[in-house]
Amino acid sequence: MNAQARMFEAVLKAAVDPIIVIDGAGVMLNANPATTDLFGYSNAELLGQNVSMLMPEPYRSEHDSYLERYLATGERHIIGIGREVAAERADGSVFPIALAVSQVDLPGEPPRFTGIIHDITDRVDAAARLQDANERLEQRVQQRTDELRVSLAELSRSNRDLEQFAYIASHDLRAPLRNVKQGVGLLDHHLQTTLGEGFDDEANELRQLIDQALGRMTDLINGLLEYSRVNQTGELETEPVDLTEVATGVVEALVHEIEDAGATVEVEDLPVVDGNRTQLRQLLSNLIQNALRYRKPSTPSRIELSGARGDDNWVISVQDNGIGVAADQHERIFDLFRRGHDGYGGVGIGLAICQRIVERHDGDIWIESEPDEGAVFRFSLPDANLRADA
Ligand SMILES: Nc1ncnc2c1ncn2[C@@H]1O[C@H](COP(=O)(O)OP(=O)(O)O)[C@@H](O)[C@H]1O
Ligand SMILES: [Mg+2]
Repeated sequence: MNAQARMFEAVLKAAVDPIIVIDGAGVMLNANPATTDLFGYSNAELLGQNVSMLMPEPYRSEHDSYLERYLATGERHIIGIGREVAAERADGSVFPIALAVSQVDLPGEPPRFTGIIHDITDRVDAAARLQDANERLEQRVQQRTDELRVSLAELSRSNRDLEQFAYIASHDLRAPLRNVKQGVGLLDHHLQTTLGEGFDDEANELRQLIDQALGRMTDLINGLLEYSRVNQTGELETEPVDLTEVATGVVEALVHEIEDAGATVEVEDLPVVDGNRTQLRQLLSNLIQNALRYRKPSTPSRIELSGARGDDNWVISVQDNGIGVAADQHERIFDLFRRGHDGYGGVGIGLAICQRIVERHDGDIWIESEPDEGAVFRFSLPDANLRADA
């Protein structure tokens, strides 16, 4: 052996990956130790045999025709390209390999081919595990989505039930409440006529207590009824509504309360929006009534209504110079039955109604305020013109 041949042998021997040399008929002329290690054959078992013995079916049967076709036509399948195929060990086990085949031409000799084999079991396993994990993940996501869909359906049903209940309860409670009021009135009359002078201060105080409780209950029941009406499902009937007109009407209807509070209410130019007139009227009415109710005893109340353009909506503001609301209450005051100040006689339904109305109009409502610094309630409504174009 000359130096070059020895060098070639040494390289083959030292190679980590199996390297096989075959002739044009597919017969193995050389196989390095990495080949015998990986496939479990001895060198003697391999040399002189067709390389197809290292492949599982169907590659085994097809292999000879690949080589023949390549030699006849030059059409490449693996040669000079390299690809991932299956290999078979002496014990019959099949495993994935990356195979790179190249043609070796020596002057005056028939063409030979070298195949360099790289065992890719680990990589294929990892890919399979990844795919497996992916599939499990997708299954989990699907399962969670289904569960969420079910709870959502249950939730919206229980919401509807609750609204229905609130409506029926508040509606049906009105009749007995009326009876109690009438009964108390009759009892009052009866006691006054029979007791005469005996109807003393204490009796008067008790009567006032009953009146207050009855008034509060009336407010609660009416509030609940209003709330459940706003919540009634079904399409919201809308029309172009001139908010300046609506606000002016609300101020007229509240003229006595405004006078009693010594307040001034200023209505600037407000936009025409696409909405439900009754609900928008209720919205402005609730906000103005709150502004009147939560005024400072020492300062004359000033209330101002204004509107401004947002990007694709209108923002309406109702500003007062009253007692204000602490930041930690800004979200909560919109909850049903939530009251932020004691001693003002509210029942905590007004803003919940406002929020529901604004939501039904695809808008938002929020407060900007600090204690003692007045409050601005702002709500947004989609621009009627933009919505019509859409
Ligand atoms: N303009 C306002 N200024 C200060 N606080 C307000 C104002 N409007 C509402 N609030 C606070 O928000 C709470 C909830 O308001 P609302 O839902 O209308 O219920 P109610 O007025 O019946 O208490 C009120 O109890 C009050 O503390
Ligand atoms: Mg209120």
